[in-house]
Amino acid sequence: MNSVLVASNRGPVSFTVSDEGALIMKRGGGGLVSGLSGVAKSNGVLWVCAALSDGDRSAVRQAPGGRLDQAGYDTGALRMLDIPPATFHRAYNAVANSTLWFVNHLLYDIPNAPLFGTRFEREWESYRDYNGAFALALAEEAGHEARVMVQDYHLTLTPAMLRAERPDLRIAHFSHTPWAPPEYFSLLPDEVAREVLEGILGADHAGFLTERWAQAFADCCRHLLGAEVSGGGVTYEGRTTNIGVHSLGVDGDSLWQRACEPDVESHMAALREQTGNRRLIVRIDRTELSKNIVRGLLAYREFLAAHPEWHGRVVHLAFAYPSRHDLPEYREYTAAVQRCAKEIEDEYGTEDWDPLILNVNDDYPRSLAAYRLADVLLVNPIRDGMNLVAKEGPILSDRCALVLSREAGAAAELGGDAIVVNPYDVGETARALHSALVMDEDERLRRAASLRRAATALPPEKWLSSQLDAL
Ligand code: G6P
Repeated sequence: MNSVLVASNRGPVSFTVSDEGALIMKRGGGGLVSGLSGVAKSNGVLWVCAALSDGDRSAVRQAPGGRLDQAGYDTGALRMLDIPPATFHRAYNAVANSTLWFVNHLLYDIPNAPLFGTRFEREWESYRDYNGAFALALAEEAGHEARVMVQDYHLTLTPAMLRAERPDLRIAHFSHTPWAPPEYFSLLPDEVAREVLEGILGADHAGFLTERWAQAFADCCRHLLGAEVSGGGVTYEGRTTNIGVHSLGVDGDSLWQRACEPDVESHMAALREQTGNRRLIVRIDRTELSKNIVRGLLAYREFLAAHPEWHGRVVHLAFAYPSRHDLPEYREYTAAVQRCAKEIEDEYGTEDWDPLILNVNDDYPRSLAAYRLADVLLVNPIRDGMNLVAKEGPILSDRCALVLSREAGAAAELGGDAIVVNPYDVGETARALHSALVMDEDERLRRAASLRRAATALPPEKWLSSQLDAL
């Protein structure tokens, strides 16, 4: 039986089916997977995740008990859950990625907030079933008094469900996202808001990436459940859940090693060929509403308008890889990003200068190449749990100046050496891009070195061990 279990919606790998019908395994994307992948292969750790696609489902169905490692894949101990596709779709797309993600990232404008009617009730029922499937699998796999680490907004109900089945376990829940303040969180139907909070309070320990998100969660518990908040814990119905802040950084050595491999180097050569020796402003994101890509592009446009002396001397590499395209909001957002990029190209592009290269395909080695060449890294989310891009950039480029949104969790640690902006203020962001480009060379190197130290201070192993210690 396993002594440490990790549960998350997305696992470390996913599968696609090739034209010839073969299964192709790929590394999963996003902050959670980047953070946890390093620890996935440690001894005694079992990772439980959901099958997300048809490719995943084919892989699981061929694996004994859903154990991909036992089917010969190099994944670390991994069990994938084959949840019925319709249930999965409602839980993942409708509840987790629409409702809960939108609430915690403040993405709804209140007049257009969703209608919570009978359709939502059905979706919520699926979210319960999906959380229940995780609780059941964890209860089956966990050894006596094992420690279980449940991840993120997909699985807010699992801790309480698992506790009901297996009171011997030590359970942690970790939120990789921000948490909304009570007056915004309470746009959820009352019973849904309560169930989410009570679900997480089923854990012994609830972890957050920054003090700010931990505080917001505690405020929601106080205001919406009448729970008592004191001394780093939330007490509700006679039980106390400890609240912890565990920041997440990057394993600098393994990222650097990966970024020195030949595929990355050949992408670097190709990008240099394309951009000449021009200065590069780089951004790398999932195409995600909270990442604020359109305002980032508009800031670049304002910068070009204000600084004709930079025309022909700078290129913006905007890498926005596809995400959650089952949701119309994401498809529309991708189109908006593309429209905005085209307008900039039409307005400023010349025969021998492309001011902007928008890349909408997922290409990890190409992204690593862009990081390595970056003079400026733009990270301007509306709201973000942490944002590991802000930490990866300075590790891979020793002269990279960082323009960083004050609303990213990373700003709490990197704010001193980044140029910090209000993500809604396009004018301020445009001025920050200019300051980053003209930053004096000594200052640029000094700041990048200090950003790099902060980015590597809490690698994933420390993040994980601090939570296990807290249990
Ligand atoms: C964020 C979330 C993760 C999620 C990732 C990618 O980092 O906190 O839980 O895995 O985005 O999103 P996706 O929907 O593709 O898993």
